[in-house]
Amino acid sequence: MDRIRIVGGRRLTGTIPISGAKNATLPLMIASLLTEETLVLDNVPRLADVVLLQRILGNHGVDVMVSGKRPGETADHGQTLHVSAANIVDTTAPYELVSKMRASFWVVAPLVARMGQARVSMPGGCAIGTRPVDLLIMALGRLGADIEIDGGYVVATAPNGLRGGEIIFPKVTVGGTHTAIMAASLAKGTTVIENAAREPEIVDVADCLNKMGARISGAGTQRIVVEGVAKLSGARHAVLPDRIETGTYAMAAAMAGGDIFLQNARAELLQAALDVLQQTGVTVTSTNQGIRIARNGADLVPVEVTTAPFPAFPTDLQAQLMALMTRARGTSRIVETIFENRFMHVQELVRLGARIQLDCERATIEGVERLKGAPVMATDLRASVSLVIAALAAEGETIVNRVYHLDRGFERLEDKLARCGAEIERLSG
Ligand code: EPZ
Repeated sequence: MDRIRIVGGRRLTGTIPISGAKNATLPLMIASLLTEETLVLDNVPRLADVVLLQRILGNHGVDVMVSGKRPGETADHGQTLHVSAANIVDTTAPYELVSKMRASFWVVAPLVARMGQARVSMPGGCAIGTRPVDLLIMALGRLGADIEIDGGYVVATAPNGLRGGEIIFPKVTVGGTHTAIMAASLAKGTTVIENAAREPEIVDVADCLNKMGARISGAGTQRIVVEGVAKLSGARHAVLPDRIETGTYAMAAAMAGGDIFLQNARAELLQAALDVLQQTGVTVTSTNQGIRIARNGADLVPVEVTTAPFPAFPTDLQAQLMALMTRARGTSRIVETIFENRFMHVQELVRLGARIQLDCERATIEGVERLKGAPVMATDLRASVSLVIAALAAEGETIVNRVYHLDRGFERLEDKLARCGAEIERLSG
């Protein structure tokens, strides 16, 4: 099992290329099931979750062809996938696959919309929470699917196809909104989605679906209207830059000190997080090529942040901000409102010398003068990278174990940081 070794104390300077967004790539690949024609996706990140989803889609009969690097291209260029669901040979998504990558549950929407049936394993919980799918099931029911739960599987049938309807989400759900949009795209009639998620990845997927012939309006707002169409065609679409990767490296630079340029990053995708970074005293400069992050010696100012759906501060950057605040001059407070167990990184940060008190969904972080390196354990994707951030400013050596969590969501992390001066390496085996 790979580990990552970091020796703290180095400033970061240079350029970090931002990859395509994991949380847009996954639903975009799933959207390929909506058409028998080929969907071409550019700027796809090289991530374990993308490889796993290729396998899951292959189970349904989807062909995925990955274009190699073209002449002159470096590893910094995203890869191009040609995804073809010409013939769907199986409408079952088995537990052993879905349980490995929760978002694969979303295949239920295009399968029932296009094939009239789907049998998809409930994904089960994960480290950060129970992760129910009741709202995704509700949405499909509102579009006329008959739903049964049978042996841990959701069995959805719509022999006469789906029909448009009104979906009102009682709480904002990204997966629920993706599911509703994909199913509604092929339903007969009009669907209105109220209290929809407004995340940039929703907008990116809607843009791609519209290129495929869907008729979606209002993506990015809380009210989305979908006029169903009979068929969708292929298209070509470039995945938008990953706002969580952007925020993560911005916080790494803030923690280590230095001056880095986040190439291809787009400020409007994570403005709330950049505003918080500026409150901590970090210099944030946006250009149309990317975002410059600098902190040269100034103390980190403590902040008070509550996570919430876009456009508020994202839960996927909560652990990274907490790591940064362990070295602030004063007391910070972070409230996690999205997931009920997303503080798994706290005890590991405490092992590095952080002072953090938990009270249900509230964390109080008392800044300390110094952190000391130690062996730590990654528990989930974003928690694992918060340990890397803390290690960059810790004295001595830190070993982060179970880095397979990191590989799910961060492309070549140790390479991108090492090229900016961090003392970081992967220990295989
Ligand atoms: C997406 O997960 C992201 N994953 C998550 O990123 C992200 O943290 C989350 O949205 C919130 O932004 C992908 O896009 C692949 P939700 P999703 O449905 O869709 C509750 C990462 O690190 N809920 O928006 O599963 C749920 O329990 C991952 O990349 C229900 O109660 O999240 C949570 O409390 C982690 N019933 C809240 O809604 C439902 O049917 C928001 O969840 C669905 C969700």
